[in-house]
Amino acid sequence: MRIVSTAAAMQKLALRWKRAGSKTGFVPTMGYLHAGHISLVHEARKRVGKKGIVVVSIYVNPTQFGPKEDLSKYPRDLKRDLQMCRAADVDVVFTPDDAEMYPNRQNWESEIGSQKLFSTYVVEEKLSQTMEGAARPTHFRGVTTVVAKLFNIVLPDVAVFGQKDFQQAAVIQRMVADLNFPVKMVVAPTLRERDGLAMSSRNKYLDDEQRAQAVVLFHALQAAKQAVKLKPVSAARLKADLKEFITAAPLAKLDYVEFFDPETLQAVAQVKHGTQMALAVFFGKTRLIDNAQL
Ligand code: PAJ
Repeated sequence: MRIVSTAAAMQKLALRWKRAGSKTGFVPTMGYLHAGHISLVHEARKRVGKKGIVVVSIYVNPTQFGPKEDLSKYPRDLKRDLQMCRAADVDVVFTPDDAEMYPNRQNWESEIGSQKLFSTYVVEEKLSQTMEGAARPTHFRGVTTVVAKLFNIVLPDVAVFGQKDFQQAAVIQRMVADLNFPVKMVVAPTLRERDGLAMSSRNKYLDDEQRAQAVVLFHALQAAKQAVKLKPVSAARLKADLKEFITAAPLAKLDYVEFFDPETLQAVAQVKHGTQMALAVFFGKTRLIDNAQL
């Protein structure tokens, strides 16, 4: 397994493979890998075959964190990440640092979350306005910008994202279509812990009590599935019921629960079979998200 830390070296390798006719599968991550990330690696391998190249990027991207978010505390363990990648038959890990990804910045700390950090951004303006985009105003601008940069550096044929971040996958898919990136997007299912909690690097922040109650996100999705099984239900009504359901876990604080069309991400008034549901819940300072098609 090769470890590459500069954009120039990564791009040179990628161009060489492209000219040789090899297919590249790409899994972008922020590291602190778990089985969910690794399931995306396996999916990438499946798509490019034994002879293809699988690239994982590990980069905690500052431009997608708000000024009051967990950038400096975001969990990191590169050594363990590299072991997991090696075990999963990854060919190349791309691990750039901030200077490599965002050169020419002047005052990094004070510029995070402001407009000044960088001068060229990629911005999706439709699907990124609700839910995560509403709760975290500069988040998707950071995501689309870094993913566009990574695509230009890694030059993948296939890129694999997780359904866990449903809106993120939809926003990136739109970016790929709108900007004609020659990349096939694959969205792979959410891997869960035994009790149903979606795997996430942020689960590490939870103490034992919070961890035990965090399963309420999954249970809320299950409850909503059950509620629309027989007939459509008003979104307002179901939201109120779920709010009550979620706050029955004493450490949970609901940020949002939304019902929407999985293609357009437009909110729906009537929730029925096939409607997408997404929710965000705080446990202390830790914010967890989950979603499912009902
Ligand atoms: P990160 O949170 O590290 O997630 C990397 C990829 O793993 C994303 O596509 C995410 O949806 C997927 N993933 C996370 N948890 C998962 C789970 N339980 N099951 C399956 N897949 C899961 O998402 C990001 O990083 C960043 O925003 C990034 C796209 C890398 C841009 O910086």
